[in-house]
Amino acid sequence: MSVLFRVAPLDAAYDRAAFSSGSEPLDCYFREQVTQDVRRRVAACFVALADGQSIAGYYTLASASLLLSGLPASAGKKLPRYPTVPAVRMGRLAVDRAFKGQGLGGALLADALDRTSRSEIAAYALMVDAKDETAAAFYRHHGFIALPDSSLALFLPLATVLPCLKQP
Ligand SMILES: CC(C)(COP(=O)(O)OP(=O)(O)OC[C@H]1O[C@@H](n2cnc3c(N)ncnc32)[C@H](O)[C@@H]1OP(=O)(O)O)[C@@H](O)C(=O)NCCC(=O)NCCS
Repeated sequence: MSVLFRVAPLDAAYDRAAFSSGSEPLDCYFREQVTQDVRRRVAACFVALADGQSIAGYYTLASASLLLSGLPASAGKKLPRYPTVPAVRMGRLAVDRAFKGQGLGGALLADALDRTSRSEIAAYALMVDAKDETAAAFYRHHGFIALPDSSLALFLPLATVLPCLKQP
């Protein structure tokens, strides 16, 4: 049976206590810290709702920057010679165990790319710090490129995804 999800900004009315992705740091952050981060405006959090109220997945976004010298030469040479380029960091992404393998992780990633691309504030790329090699493989599967100095730090230039996101 397929489930329809709705993505919305995190709201205090949603029950975070039952959320379980299998990653204790990601679950603990979601239970205990995310609302503080949202209140202090150091992160924005979006959730996938499976039936109006129950949370099937979440991700966070915040402003960030990428060192120009840290980018692969092929990407860096197309950019202005500023020390950094603007980016948006997806700090966390997690799907509840009950909903894994159904395309929700990919859909949340697409939602984050869409939101970031639609912003009036420019960003060169969406970047992520993958928590391990399995997570990095998930991002590579979706076109992210690892930074030369760290296989767990990856980025996706937004200009490359814009044509896929634009509605006819
Ligand atoms: C990583 C995670 C978000 C993926 O969510 P999911 O809903 O199970 O993944 P999806 O069903 O959307 O998978 C989408 C695609 O990614 C692929 N994929 C999933 N995990 C993958 C992995 N580790 N490596 C490579 N590809 C992967 C799927 O095969 C699928 O491919 P397709 O679209 O070509 O069929 C989820 O497993 C999770 O919450 N893991 C624990 C937390 C975590 O690792 N977060 C990562 C951020 S640090």
